Amino acid sequence: MDQLDQLITEAQTAFSAAPDANALEQAKARFLGKSGSVTELLKGLGKLDADARRAAGAEINRAKTAIETALESRRDALRNAQLQAQLAAEALDVTLPGRGLRQGGIHPVNRTLERVETLFRSIGFEVADGPEIETDWHNFTALNTPDNHPARSMHDTFYLEGASEVLLRTHTSPVQIRTMQTHAAKYQGGDMPELRIIAPGRVYRVDSDATHSPMFHQVEGLWIGEQISFAGLKGVVIDFLQRFFETDEMQVRFRPSFFPFTEPSAEIDFAFMSGPNKGRWLEIAGCGMVHPKVLANGGIDADRYTGFAFGMGLDRLTMLRYGVNDLRLFFDNDVRFLRQFND
Ligand code: DAH
Repeated sequence: MDQLDQLITEAQTAFSAAPDANALEQAKARFLGKSGSVTELLKGLGKLDADARRAAGAEINRAKTAIETALESRRDALRNAQLQAQLAAEALDVTLPGRGLRQGGIHPVNRTLERVETLFRSIGFEVADGPEIETDWHNFTALNTPDNHPARSMHDTFYLEGASEVLLRTHTSPVQIRTMQTHAAKYQGGDMPELRIIAPGRVYRVDSDATHSPMFHQVEGLWIGEQISFAGLKGVVIDFLQRFFETDEMQVRFRPSFFPFTEPSAEIDFAFMSGPNKGRWLEIAGCGMVHPKVLANGGIDADRYTGFAFGMGLDRLTMLRYGVNDLRLFFDNDVRFLRQFND
């Protein structure tokens, strides 16, 4: 049957021409679909008598099988081609040289922290620690800042939802209270050796711009003992600043100020006498003599002992040391920025 052979050839040609699976299924419909050529031929068998029907049926089925075989083989070919394309696209060139492991580095603020710790340890300070989620009592009340005290509004505080007595500490000063309590408890009734600590760490305030971040770093300092004086405070701070910035070419001034937890209180400014910041007064810390009420809240006999305290901005120390002008750079995690501190 020439007509059937022709149909087979036609189908084979159409299938080979189908560029993808979709086109192939459409071509299939033309031959094997409900109203496809082969189906139509089979429908026509009914009109033939029994003998002719058997003969024609066998022939049509032979053609149908041939067309189905052609369809299947084209399907295979397309599937194969797609697999090959995918393999080629995902090929790994195992002969490329390796990328190597980049060495990590120390964050600039941590560099400052390490430096501050080394310098204070060298004059007998220990490093103390306290929780970042703090009670209202440690963060404010014990530091002589009771409810409704106007100084509370200077600290835009993050409170924890559903817990009005718990907050993210707004400064490292609550560590003063915690370390005084632990220290005092050890020597109850007897002579108390000096307490000399720094407490570096993260603090939080609702504030954000080029020089303020909602999370930033402070380092608290506290020295308590007999006859600890403001003169001692000045000596420690000036010596620290000179060693930290590696220059004696600076002026330091203690500007009278107010903090509820110290009396008297001062703000510390310093100015380089050379370099790019020459002559500009830069604020660096708050400080003062620990208020007797604060000593008492820490369990320390305020009639016998005195002390000084200070609180410095670690991020600010870092910005000044390295000449960084935007605080946010420290917290963006951009390796192009961070890498510069680790060559
Ligand atoms: N806690 C103060 C603040 O965050 C800084 C400060 C001032 C700390 C005076 C002190 C101090 O220890 O004596 O603004």
